Amino acid sequence: MRSGKALYVGISSYDAASTRKAAAMLRDMGTPCVIHQPKYNLFERWIERELIDALRDTGMGCIPFSPLAQGMLTDRYLNGIPSDSRAAKEHGFLKKDMITEGKLSQISRLNEVAKRRGQSLAQMSLAWVLRIPEITSVLLGASSVEQLESNLGALQNKQFSDEEYREIDHIIFNS
Ligand SMILES: NC(=O)c1ccc[n+]([C@@H]2O[C@H](COP(=O)([O-])OP(=O)(O)OC[C@H]3O[C@@H](n4cnc5c(N)ncnc54)[C@H](OP(=O)(O)O)[C@@H]3O)[C@@H](O)[C@H]2O)c1
Repeated sequence: MRSGKALYVGISSYDAASTRKAAAMLRDMGTPCVIHQPKYNLFERWIERELIDALRDTGMGCIPFSPLAQGMLTDRYLNGIPSDSRAAKEHGFLKKDMITEGKLSQISRLNEVAKRRGQSLAQMSLAWVLRIPEITSVLLGASSVEQLESNLGALQNKQFSDEEYREIDHIIFNS
């Protein structure tokens, strides 16, 4: 930045207060902070409390990572843990014991909501993240071209009814 080679800056996972501070500092230094990359998905909602307000106030975009909760918000684990899946690998952040009975029950019920919308669970999960105007894009992962192509289908239906929002939140917070 100081040598003029960085024209724009992005930050990741800063809380709302630090984001506001970073935006002001970077603006003063003449290198605008244009994007924030936080973890956000149906299971992890922390950005809804204060960060989205900070992004709106500072004019910063948002590109969440792990919008599919590393694969949990797909049909990947509905019938066990496939040997080629992320959870089956020794290394990485998704561990087998994170896929609990309770999570599986939620995933299975969310899958039913997605089916009624004519979507896969992955597509519904991505569309749901994209519902917030401050969210510019999503940073999704894929282990095959088929997954990526299927996930792009999320853009075919980004509308949710109030009833669907209520049902999704009920599954997440009351079961
Ligand atoms: N800024 C940061 O601190 C930070 C932190 C973490 C990650 N990141 C970035 O964010 C990127 C995305 O994160 P993520 O990989 O955790 O994202 P994610 O989209 O939540 O999870 C991706 C995984 O979901 C599974 N998947 C995707 N589409 C699927 C489908 N249609 N059907 C079944 N399974 C599907 C695949 O798992 P399988 O491999 O099991 O097929 C894939 O590897 C990373 O590559 C990394 O660059 C940034």
